[in-house]
Amino acid sequence: MLSMENSSKNIFLIGLMGAGKTTIGRALARRMHLQFLDSDHEIEARTGVSIRTIFELEGEQGFRTRESATIEDLTLRQGVVLATGGGAILLPETRQYLHNRGTVIYLRARPEDLYKRTKHDRDRPLLQTEDPLAKLRALLESRHSFYEETAHIIIDTGEQGVSRLIANIERELLAFQHLS
Ligand code: S3P
Repeated sequence: MLSMENSSKNIFLIGLMGAGKTTIGRALARRMHLQFLDSDHEIEARTGVSIRTIFELEGEQGFRTRESATIEDLTLRQGVVLATGGGAILLPETRQYLHNRGTVIYLRARPEDLYKRTKHDRDRPLLQTEDPLAKLRALLESRHSFYEETAHIIIDTGEQGVSRLIANIERELLAFQHLS
C-alpha cells in the first residue's frame, strides 16, 4: 500500500461488485455525519441513461472515461463517503484521485460471497455471462493488486453483518488516523 499524503476527511470505498460498497457506504456516512455519494448513480444522473446502456453504446472503455471524469469531480468534494464502481481502480489517474484525496477502504470479499450477492442481478453488464462466478474470480485475479495499492485500509467482509463491519471500519479508521 502507498502512504497517504493528505488530511482529507473523505472516505472512498473500493472493491468488486457485490462487496457491499453502497450498503456500507450509506451506513458509514450516516454514522459519521458525512454526505454519501455513489459514482455509478452520479454517472447515470449525468448521462440520463443506465450503466448498461452506456456499456452498450460506448463499450467498457467509454464507460471508464466517464467514470474517471466523474470520480475526478466527486473526490474534490469535502466530507463525503464515496462508493465507487468495482472497476474504478483500472485507470491509473482514477487510482491517484482516490488515493490522494481521501482515505481509501478496500472491502475485500471472496468470489463465492460476491456471487451470492449478485447472482440475480441483471444490471451489471460484466456479470451477464454463462458463468458469473468464474468471471468474478477472473476479475479478482486481474484487479486485486490495484485494489491493494490504492487502499489505505483493507477490510475483510466475510459473513459479517453491516453493523459489525461498520464497527471494524471505525476502529481501523481511528488507528489509521493516529498513524498518519
Ligand atoms: C463494474 C462495477 C459496477 C459498475 C459497472 C462495472 C466493474 O459497479 O460500475 O457495471 O467493472 O466491476 P458496482 O461495483 O457498484 O456493482
